[in-house]
Amino acid sequence: DWTMAAFREEAKEKIREQVGSSKVICGLSGGVDSSVAAVLLHEAIGDQLTCIFVDHGLLRKHEAEEVVSMFRNHYNIPLVHVDVSDLFISALEGVADPEAKRKTIGKLFIDVFEAEAKKIGGADFLAQGTLYPDVIESVSFAGGPSVTIKSHHNVGGLPDRMNMKLVEPLRELFKDEVRALGRTLGLPESFVGRHPFPGPGLAIRCPGGVTREKLEILRNADAIYLDEIRKAGLYDAIWQAFAVLLPVQTVGVMGDGRTYDFVCALRAVTSVDGMTADFYPFDMAFLGRAATRIINEVKGINRVVYDVTSKPPGTIEWE
Ligand code: XMP
Repeated sequence: DWTMAAFREEAKEKIREQVGSSKVICGLSGGVDSSVAAVLLHEAIGDQLTCIFVDHGLLRKHEAEEVVSMFRNHYNIPLVHVDVSDLFISALEGVADPEAKRKTIGKLFIDVFEAEAKKIGGADFLAQGTLYPDVIESVSFAGGPSVTIKSHHNVGGLPDRMNMKLVEPLRELFKDEVRALGRTLGLPESFVGRHPFPGPGLAIRCPGGVTREKLEILRNADAIYLDEIRKAGLYDAIWQAFAVLLPVQTVGVMGDGRTYDFVCALRAVTSVDGMTADFYPFDMAFLGRAATRIINEVKGINRVVYDVTSKPPGTIEWE
């Protein structure tokens, strides 16, 4: 792609201008944006870059292994894998408000980045895969209009007290452009085509309080749902699909016993940039299959519902 080839060279030049000979830390989330940012930065500044993959315990099934192996084995980009799930999950205990979750997570991300920066002798810059829609929609951070829908910055609402300066090479791009850039950079199609995943991860897909047990239930349901979507050949037709674990228990019957378990909501939308979205019109047979598997295979869920809300008035995520 000609436009992206030109963008790639310009962006690398800008990165070099901004950071000079300083060290840069890049927060990798496993998503397309941060991966593309990391590969671009690595081309621009080589060893000045250290990528930090923060496993906050809010990732999807097998996500950590996939990201780490792709970066270490495929790209040979130095990667620090920090497992801080205890830290994040205990900090989130009792935090039910969506914005409070983002603030808690954003603050811990910075703590982790600062600690990792110290370990490599200091870094002046923190790089992120922030996109243009993130900039417009997280107005509280960018200081734009007065209504904040969600402070969804890439790491979920960054605190003001951060010492490092931000490097955001994708700030002017939309998702489809980032994907084109990723292809230009040689990222595998399986990675470039991944559905977006929010920085605060599964925490914002567990409305109400987050616990290890709930996260595990959600992770399993989500994996089955995505597996069914792939099997049906629908993954690429959908912008984003995921399960949400509702803080509601309902009565059911399994075998000859009564159950009293959680409700799982399934979400799938089509979109071009995430700013507006339509719910995906699955056929009922598909939904029935996914629901049956989730209820049979995931202990803790006995009811599945499908979300038919578009954006607006809904948002894509439930929190
Ligand atoms: P909403 O839910 O606002 O989401 O319609 C639009 C897109 O943004 C993602 N999202 C986030 N990404 N941090 C992120 O990095 C966040 O706090 C956050 N909240 C929402 C969402 O997954 C969708 O792709």
